[in-house]
Amino acid sequence: MRIVVLTGAGISAESGLATFRDPGGLWQRHRPQDLATPEAFARDPDLVLGWYDARRAQLADVAPNAAHHALARLDAAWPHDFLLVTQNVDDLHARAGARRMVQMHGALKQARCEGCGAVHEWAGPMPRATPCPACGAARLRPNIVWFGEMPMHMRRIEAALEAADVFVAIGTSGTVYPAAGFVEALRPGARSLELNLEPSAVAHRFSETRQGPATTLVPALVEELLRG
Ligand code: OAD
Repeated sequence: MRIVVLTGAGISAESGLATFRDPGGLWQRHRPQDLATPEAFARDPDLVLGWYDARRAQLADVAPNAAHHALARLDAAWPHDFLLVTQNVDDLHARAGARRMVQMHGALKQARCEGCGAVHEWAGPMPRATPCPACGAARLRPNIVWFGEMPMHMRRIEAALEAADVFVAIGTSGTVYPAAGFVEALRPGARSLELNLEPSAVAHRFSETRQGPATTLVPALVEELLRG
């Protein structure tokens, strides 16, 4: 049985990271077009870099929760195909031990050079004009997918979705494509589950929905799947 799991900001909420669209969420406090577009970066690089510096620094104050750990357990124990696709740019899945995982919206702790394309692991701040460790050009940016840009790893994700027997979406509002459309890419007959605090915008597309906090629902589902 082949499993694909999609996660969104809701899985990290109980670790203390704000989601985007819930009350108090990042896109309630800031306009995405001021911070998360190539145009914003061209207009005011210090503002954009500073915002990502703050979010990167915040990762030191949070830890993976029971939902991240449960998915890492599933990944380690599942003998068949498994892929965790996360829209999250935090590092909580990785710190919980995720192995078969792709970050389709990029990663806070990576820098990418717009000159040579090299991607570098990045822990501290990323001040403007920092030279690229590979080519020396002062053209580094967060390795994050901004609005209007192509998500990463799409070929691998599409192939996994087409082959999946079980698809699980966790803590995502179903408002940002292409991820919101993944449930429609499944084969007829594939089982699809949504785990979320409340029904998402695409909840009606799933064969099953469960409502509640990720730290409760995800460990329970993982136990079910591993019991068979
Ligand atoms: P959203 O903020 O849009 O949605 C978060 C979802 O998580 C909501 O449906 C909540 O109901 C749910 N939720 C909140 N707390 C939860 C909990 N404890 N347990 C379970 N569910 C919970 O976040 P995303 O769907 O991840 O993109 O947003 C998608 C993309 O939009 C992000 O990757 C980001 C943003 O713009 C980029 O930055 C490229």
